[in-house]
Amino acid sequence: MRRRIVAGNWKMNGTQSDASALVRAISVDLNRDSAVQVVLCPPFILIPTVATLLTGQQGIEYGGQNLDVHDHGAYTGEISAPMLRDFGCRYVIVGHSERRALYGDTDDLVAAKSRKALDSGLTPIVCVGESLRQREQNTTESVVGAQLDAVVAGVGSARCAEIVVAYEPVWAIGTGRSATPVQAQSVHRFIRDRLAAANDARAADIPILYGGSVKPDNASALFAEPDIDGGLIGGAALSAADFLAICHAAA
Ligand code: 13P
Repeated sequence: MRRRIVAGNWKMNGTQSDASALVRAISVDLNRDSAVQVVLCPPFILIPTVATLLTGQQGIEYGGQNLDVHDHGAYTGEISAPMLRDFGCRYVIVGHSERRALYGDTDDLVAAKSRKALDSGLTPIVCVGESLRQREQNTTESVVGAQLDAVVAGVGSARCAEIVVAYEPVWAIGTGRSATPVQAQSVHRFIRDRLAAANDARAADIPILYGGSVKPDNASALFAEPDIDGGLIGGAALSAADFLAICHAAA
């Protein structure tokens, strides 16, 4: 049985007091009996704040939004996997479309970051997804397939069962225009089949999350699809009430 996961990607938002208030509100009201794994991904500088508040708390993990492929050295502005581990992170988002579009993260770099994460004891949440133009040109499967193939080649087919995949259509991110459950399920099925081609025995165990304008009012319908195993949440992860409602919908 694969895990259900709801991960919050806070992106570049929040002060220490915002982060404290959000974590407190989420941890007070979270249903810890549910089988959903909750993951919070704050900006790097807020990880110590989140880590301190979550010490000893069951049912909530946290992670970074990116990592460098090197462990240490002259890489100004970067954060490494051992640094994330040092602060208790268990997850890291890799290949978010904003990193791909704004910071030049290529398929090969995303693959190398995924491998570095696994080698360091972090679970990479590997983001894939097509732009609006690519969807309109009917190239969604070739784009997502190539993004996925690079990561599978990078980590090796045996270890691809240790990753989490997040399908995030670029046109649905921050736009209020989510993919419909049918649209999302179709790509999730494609992703699962592609993973099965690499590792038939374990593909069914790999959580595939949907991201892109997930809100309390559309989460249940999305999570009801057979290959949608939870969500990677942006804007709604900054509201404790909305995020908790989405966690509840995944349970
Ligand atoms: P929104 O939920 O704000 O659309 O963002 C999704 C996302 O990019 C999560 O990584």
